[in-house]
Amino acid sequence: MTKSETQIESQNNFLLDNHLPEIGLEAMRDEVMRSLTDKPRRIPSKYFYNKEGSVLFEEITNLPEYYLSRTEKAILSSLWNKLAIDAHNLHIIELGSGDCSKIELLLRTLPKSTLDTITYHPVDFSSNALKDSANNLMQQFPDLCIHGIVADFFHQIHLLPSERPRLVCFFGSTIGNFNKNEINAFMNELGNAMETGDHLLLGLDMIKDLDVLEKAYNDNKGVTARFNKNILSVANELLEADFEPHLFDHRAFYNKEHHRIEMHLVARENMIVTCGFNDSTIELKAGEIIHTENSHKFDRDHIQYMGKTAGLTIRQVFTDPQQWFSLVLYAK
Ligand code: AVJ
Repeated sequence: MTKSETQIESQNNFLLDNHLPEIGLEAMRDEVMRSLTDKPRRIPSKYFYNKEGSVLFEEITNLPEYYLSRTEKAILSSLWNKLAIDAHNLHIIELGSGDCSKIELLLRTLPKSTLDTITYHPVDFSSNALKDSANNLMQQFPDLCIHGIVADFFHQIHLLPSERPRLVCFFGSTIGNFNKNEINAFMNELGNAMETGDHLLLGLDMIKDLDVLEKAYNDNKGVTARFNKNILSVANELLEADFEPHLFDHRAFYNKEHHRIEMHLVARENMIVTCGFNDSTIELKAGEIIHTENSHKFDRDHIQYMGKTAGLTIRQVFTDPQQWFSLVLYAK
């Protein structure tokens, strides 16, 4: 891809690179179209996060059933002093930065005098979320340099900034959205991109009681159901299609064999969906599913295995009293 296709916006100590044009609308349409005609049908989870989807996800993180964010944030809020990392001149890269509320907790506990030496590189698929959250962060940390990167970090790891030393943060157990092969490929590539002295701080949701897991994805208020169905609105926009989200049921359950929560959308009746952009139709039978998300859960062996795959050493593992969530510090 040529440099000229990258869209750059800048102001004061804020810079934003948009690398999505390099992927292109065509490739995204292709990906969603191919996934939807797969067997079983699916839509990749990264398409959850349009403006509405990002708002709904934030709402999920505040639900009593969704223990993940609150547990991880509790660990993060007192973490920095326990990390053997020098904050001076650090390049903090956050993959899937979302609303930046997690990095905020970390930044708040850094030595104040180091803030104007640090560059924060939030990487996200959603340019709206990235702009809003970076703006918000700038108000709170006016000395901080922010260099936002809009990208699909799974396919665009090569875009990670090369300035060092680097602390790569991958919070929220978002790596759990990848399947096994993808996790291997991702850890391998990330490990290769890292250099001696770089660190990775990885947030992982741990295997636990089935009931706790399933409730987290089947909340009482139905926010997760709305979040799940919203992916059809994203597909509608992208494909100029006419999915009717209300004609689908939300289904989420724990798949024990694969250690993962699976989210599906189940067609409530027979339907024919038209895709305007390529004049095609998708025929769904009542009861047919669209698989929208895997959310893998992890244990100690996975933590070790991922380190090995990436060629990284485990430095420290932090968890909560119930051991529901882990933050793992790896070093190259
Ligand atoms: C942000 C991908 C980690 O898998 O738990 C929340 C997304 N899906 N509720 C997760 C999500 C349903 C979340 N991740």
